[in-house]
Amino acid sequence: MTTAMSEEYKLVARPGEIPFARGLEGVITAESTKSYVDGIGGKLFYHGIPIEVLAERSTFEEVVFLLLYDRLPTRGELAAFQERMAAEREISDFVYQLVAARAGMPRAHSMAVLRSAVSCLSGFDAAAESDADADQEQEAVRIVSQMATVVAAIGRARAGLPAVRPRRDLSHAANLLWMLTGRDPDPYEARVMDLLLILHADHECNASTFAVVVVKSTLADMYSAVVAGIGALKGPLHGGANEDVMRMIKEIGAPEQARAWAEEAIAQKRKIPGFGHRVYKTMDPRARILRQYAEEMARRAGTGRWLQIADALQATIQERLGAKGIWPNVDFYSGIVMASMGIPEELFTPVFAVSRAAGWVAHALEQAKDNRIYRPRFVYVGPEEAPYVPLEDREAPGPREGTGPAESQEKPVGMENPDARKRQQAEGPARERERKFA
Ligand SMILES: CC(C)(COP(=O)(O)OP(=O)(O)OC[C@H]1O[C@@H](n2cnc3c(N)ncnc32)[C@H](O)[C@@H]1OP(=O)(O)O)[C@@H](O)C(=O)NCCC(=O)NCCS
Repeated sequence: MTTAMSEEYKLVARPGEIPFARGLEGVITAESTKSYVDGIGGKLFYHGIPIEVLAERSTFEEVVFLLLYDRLPTRGELAAFQERMAAEREISDFVYQLVAARAGMPRAHSMAVLRSAVSCLSGFDAAAESDADADQEQEAVRIVSQMATVVAAIGRARAGLPAVRPRRDLSHAANLLWMLTGRDPDPYEARVMDLLLILHADHECNASTFAVVVVKSTLADMYSAVVAGIGALKGPLHGGANEDVMRMIKEIGAPEQARAWAEEAIAQKRKIPGFGHRVYKTMDPRARILRQYAEEMARRAGTGRWLQIADALQATIQERLGAKGIWPNVDFYSGIVMASMGIPEELFTPVFAVSRAAGWVAHALEQAKDNRIYRPRFVYVGPEEAPYVPLEDREAPGPREGTGPAESQEKPVGMENPDARKRQQAEGPARERERKFA
């Protein structure tokens, strides 16, 4: 954990000398009224309401309202909000064209196309650079609404198909399916898509939401903040894990091979996609809910084999790593659910972004209300003083020389941080003594 530092405390140290939380683990960065994760009990609440209740009884639009305004809407408010979101759905032809051109690039990842397109949306929003509260709130609703249109356009373009324009008479989830397929959505699939959107909408201070609030804390515009969120969500340690899960399930190929595959992955100390979480040390409640729906989706789509592989894998991981707090997270079953709906793997993370956009903008507005710029510190562990060697006198480092200063420095004296302690133990007692008494 971080220590209280006096004014004179010099943040220059030898590696491991000053304790700090790697990856900001356990660090509280702000107060928030949006969502709460109980990582030990395996619970998630949006503004105090259990996720199971919202999954069962709510809609994505109602959840967006809850996250933005910290209360459930009345019947009239919900109808007006649904209409407002529907009215914001259409995007400029320019953005459709940009998506088609960008999606056609051979190396364009769907999240990279989404990043470009959302950035471009700001060029069509007259209030994009305004920091008036009402304008920011309008942008928030617009971004959540238009994100679905952009993601569907990406899906269509990647499949070599023309974009399907949004409809105003459908829910956000049903309209997303309509724009993806050009067909009237099956009511059950629309319900499952709504559920996916509800479950992914917010998750307190996750990496992408934190990226969003950091950008917003500089008083940058809402679009810039959301683009930062898209960038963070793309990573395989965060939203990108759902794609990896599906690839893994296909690679395993059969339920009977799951145990051997898992044993090998564990032996090689590989991080298994869809498992583990910084906060949950038990089953992610969203994974539990999705598992129930995955059953019916797989039955309808004839993809039960994927689910059998997933279940066999989960049983082994739970048996081998459960005690260590490694359990399925939301990404473990979401891929199977989406794939069973016919959504291609490359759209899994963009669909996640359609939902998480709600949390991003809600937290960005919350940040703007009581803003202070994020400006933490790094512990500087480089050389305290170094000569400036003239260019003509410099030599390239030898093959065994590291680029960092650690090897050339004295041994660190204190080892408060647990990561440093783990490293220290791994290096053995002699090295530990040497460090302590250097
Ligand atoms: C989510 C995640 C990034 C959290 O990382 P973290 O809090 O930094 O956890 P750490 O990397 O410190 O892992 C702690 C321990 O659990 C192990 N572990 C964590 N996730 C694991 C996984 N998916 N499979 C196997 N072991 C895992 C680590 O190897 C480490 O073991 P060690 O103490 O013996 O070295 C990590 O669990 C992960 O990479 N999961 C897979 C990707 C994923 O599904 N992401 C979506 C999250 S919603």
